[in-house]
Amino acid sequence: MTASDVAVFRQILDAKDVIEDEADLAGMNVDWTGRFKGESRLALMPRTTEQVADLLRHCQKRKLAVVPQGGNTGLVGGGVPIRDEIIVSLGRMKKVLDHDPVTGTVALEAGVILERADQFVREHGRMMPIDLGAKGSCMIGGCLATNAGGIRVLRYGSLRSNVLGLQAVCADGTVLDNMRGLQKDNTGYDWKQLIVGSEGTLALITAAVIKTWPAPKDIQVALLSLDSYEQIGKLYSLAQSECAEVLSAFEFWDESAKGLLQKHLKLKVPQTSQFAVLIEVSGSEKEPNSEKLLRLLEIAMEKEIILDGSIAQDETQAKVFWSFRESIPEACAKEGLVLKFDLSLGRSQALYSIVERMRDNLKNDATVSSITGYGHFGDGNLHLNISMDQLPDREKVLRIEKQVFGYIRENGGSISAEHGIGQAKMPFLHYSRSDTEIALMYQLKGLFDPSGILNIGKVLSPKTTKYFNVY
Ligand code: FAD
Ligand code: MLT
Ligand code: ZN
Repeated sequence: MTASDVAVFRQILDAKDVIEDEADLAGMNVDWTGRFKGESRLALMPRTTEQVADLLRHCQKRKLAVVPQGGNTGLVGGGVPIRDEIIVSLGRMKKVLDHDPVTGTVALEAGVILERADQFVREHGRMMPIDLGAKGSCMIGGCLATNAGGIRVLRYGSLRSNVLGLQAVCADGTVLDNMRGLQKDNTGYDWKQLIVGSEGTLALITAAVIKTWPAPKDIQVALLSLDSYEQIGKLYSLAQSECAEVLSAFEFWDESAKGLLQKHLKLKVPQTSQFAVLIEVSGSEKEPNSEKLLRLLEIAMEKEIILDGSIAQDETQAKVFWSFRESIPEACAKEGLVLKFDLSLGRSQALYSIVERMRDNLKNDATVSSITGYGHFGDGNLHLNISMDQLPDREKVLRIEKQVFGYIRENGGSISAEHGIGQAKMPFLHYSRSDTEIALMYQLKGLFDPSGILNIGKVLSPKTTKYFNVY
């Protein structure tokens, strides 16, 4: 990359949207976990889709590598440069474009922060389909690019099942636009679903139409203690039959998570046993919710599935219960450098065994300070966090990854249920996908991004790294 490339970018963008200052770039060069660091010297912050298209057209012509970035809350090193790629941040495209009060759809630019989108639609009695701990920073484009899940997938599905329209720019600057936001549209291939979850490797998302849901008028939350993972499975089956249509979240964590919440965030979790489960029911009226939840707890007590627990008495207490669950990633991060795993298995009962197995495998490793399990039980999705004193050398990381991912492969699961592949899991993609599937992914990559300038070294192993931008 040369000074004349930067001059072209300055013609396309306002001077203040071309970032070259090292201090300003520092935060964009490192991911949320602190594990992945790049050395980009340039970030571009377009404000319109046309600007994104003009920037990419130039980058493709000059074979300059680009990494798309949203709120930079991703957990697999996908949104930060590996070397000196140009960061294209969508953070200045933050307009709510449209809202249909009848169908409840909302059209948003890619840089709208999830929480802001939620606040907007709540003014109209609706809510966004997804909710996650990073909602205060993550952006719609980033959430779509990772097909973010979160705490309400069991009721409303992941973002993929709630996206009705998309606008995206391919590597050569071509704008793909289908923002009609139709609920039903079976006219040929659904290209937007290829871009959703592609982690910025196929195109840059600039806007989307999202389906929103009626905001429940009443929410009840219970926090329960259980003494085995098997009991959580029994409780989940019971919750599905007793709470059926009002069940909106079923999350769990273990004793290690409780300890870290207390140690680092001074949160006192009223958890009396090895596992805690947070159940949320919600709907348009209070009575069926509280009755159903109470009945569930009564039966679960009677059957000795739960040891004890309580229902939040008001909204404030419900928020406190939720804060325990949502603060676990932060508590794990405060314990040390975290190796994060995001796993799913069809047969959820076997999932927690990997936490126990890793505790046993690493019991003599003095650099490991805690091994924690938590996650979205209702989706069969476990987060295993291994907190270490410092980032171990590459060999050791690979050894640990092989143990975890090997177990998942043997049991037919996924090495990434919701966070994506990024750079963190790229070497293990074949543990969850067949050679034929990966070959098809390369073909698709070649179609959307023939020069390989988009998010090089993420998801798929790069065929060539010659387009890293050598200054
Ligand atoms: P970034 O981190 O900036 O980017 C993520 C990926 O998307 C990168 O590969 C990037 O290149 C690409 N990208 C970003 N914007 C665009 C765009 N406009 N077009 C094309 N590609 C783009 N995830 C879950 O699924 N469920 C959870 O419950 C959850 N909880 C979290 C809690 C915490 C505390 C944190 C820190 C993260 C959590 N995550 C969770 C991770 C999750 O992936 C992100 O929070 C979110 O989806 C990423 O959005 P972002 O805007 O920060 O994207
Ligand atoms: C969560 O469920 O809390 C998120 O996916 C983040 C994490 O796994 O740490
Ligand atoms: Zn999660």
